[in-house]
Amino acid sequence: MKPSAGSGPVTLAIMGCGQRGRAYAVYAQQHPERCKIVAVAEPRPKTRARMVQEHTVDSSLTFKSWQAFHAASEETIVTIGRRLADAVLIAVQDHMHAELVEAFAAQGYHILCEKPMATSIPHCLRIEESIKKAGVIFGMGHVLRYSPYSQAITEIVRSGQLGDLVNVVHIEPIGHTHFAHSYVRGNWAREMDSSFSLMTKSCHDIDIICSWLSPEKPERVSSFGGLRHFRKEAKPTTAGDSTRCLSCPAERSCPYSAKKSNVVYLEPVQAGKTGWPAAVIVDGIADIENVTDALHSGPYGQCVYESRNDVCDNQVVNIQFSSGATASFTMVAYTLLQCERQTRLHFTHGEIVGDMTDFTVTDFRTGATEKRSPMREGGGHGGGDLGLIRAFTEAVRTGRQELLGTDVTEVLSSHLTVFAAEESRRKGVTVDCGQFERKAREGWLLTGKQ
Ligand SMILES: NC(=O)c1ccc[n+]([C@@H]2O[C@H](COP(=O)([O-])OP(=O)(O)OC[C@H]3O[C@@H](n4cnc5c(N)ncnc54)[C@H](O)[C@@H]3O)[C@@H](O)[C@H]2O)c1
Repeated sequence: MKPSAGSGPVTLAIMGCGQRGRAYAVYAQQHPERCKIVAVAEPRPKTRARMVQEHTVDSSLTFKSWQAFHAASEETIVTIGRRLADAVLIAVQDHMHAELVEAFAAQGYHILCEKPMATSIPHCLRIEESIKKAGVIFGMGHVLRYSPYSQAITEIVRSGQLGDLVNVVHIEPIGHTHFAHSYVRGNWAREMDSSFSLMTKSCHDIDIICSWLSPEKPERVSSFGGLRHFRKEAKPTTAGDSTRCLSCPAERSCPYSAKKSNVVYLEPVQAGKTGWPAAVIVDGIADIENVTDALHSGPYGQCVYESRNDVCDNQVVNIQFSSGATASFTMVAYTLLQCERQTRLHFTHGEIVGDMTDFTVTDFRTGATEKRSPMREGGGHGGGDLGLIRAFTEAVRTGRQELLGTDVTEVLSSHLTVFAAEESRRKGVTVDCGQFERKAREGWLLTGKQ
């Protein structure tokens, strides 16, 4: 294991200052004694300048790309034997993760990588190998694990107080406008540009299900799903030939309008709501002018029935674990709730029913039902974003990977379950998870680890 940080705050270099880079960086503002952003790499000038200003990053440690930061690191490592920070936070797009993890692990940085680990099985295997070889702390953006709500449930699961966990039912209601923003118009709309939606949206749902049932392993998985609605055939005839909301005659009656006040970009900005999602469609401040420009020319003003998307808008996954325990998961776009997961955990002596804010615990022996409302401390994912960055910086400070409650091999394992589920959906077969992993590892070795 590489040496942990000294007595001062853990120093972080942020690669990619978009939505996620900024979400984690908030922790440094809240707890300057524990964490400091000392370097940033970001190509978008206004986005970069904002982060630099918010964290008073020195101009000598401000870079236009992760490659430039990496080259500067190489130089200080070779000349004075020092890295430029204790750890690197990787918050660039999905298909870039593997390259960055390999490059920074080789330089000896501790790494917090956004989810998903990577977009292909060989890339995930390369990440596992490079982290193990470097012996650095590795955190994964599986933020669901780190919210006070999830941690309280996990504590009950681990305590055994309700007996054995036999079945989990878990639903990810993505939210109809969130889906249109991210998976029809946005970064995760096309499998070729990122990955399939079970991976990009729900790898952390599968991960938390697997973590609740661990040390049992997933044995078999099956899945169904597809892209049902966001396709040309579903376009209302009243929309005619129009391909953009700003000029569409059917815009007022469309639930996916890019203008509407109860939905996404323009009217919310006019009403002063300049945060997500409007904030991520422009470089810099989301004012009316910038947002109007983005809707005129960019993907976020495009008709949802005329976009380039191809990822599933609904998918179900069934998993059987080694003890015979089962889990079912549903990911669906068409919900009013936005990412507020609904979860039921069924034990031999009781049950837990939760909605990501509160949960009830029923003990069948006493018949008593208790409601729990774990404290919410702000930040995204019910406090999971802040929970993860806190656990990561503490792991780096102390050199203790176990403070993250997981490691790179477990992260890989839940990703392989997601790949196996997708294989089941595509091929219409039930997939044996053990065999799937063996084949993946053998195939990777046979192709020279490419
Ligand atoms: N954990 C979660 O729940 C969660 C939620 C959303 C997104 N994500 C993941 O987080 C990652 C980032 O997503 P986001 O929403 O912040 O995207 P984003 O597009 O807002 O941010 C990515 C940033 O990387 C920058 N970038 C591009 N090339 C670069 C380079 N060569 N060097 C440095 N920076 C570069 C972009 O300019 C952009 O600002 C993705 O992998 C995404 O899937 C995770």
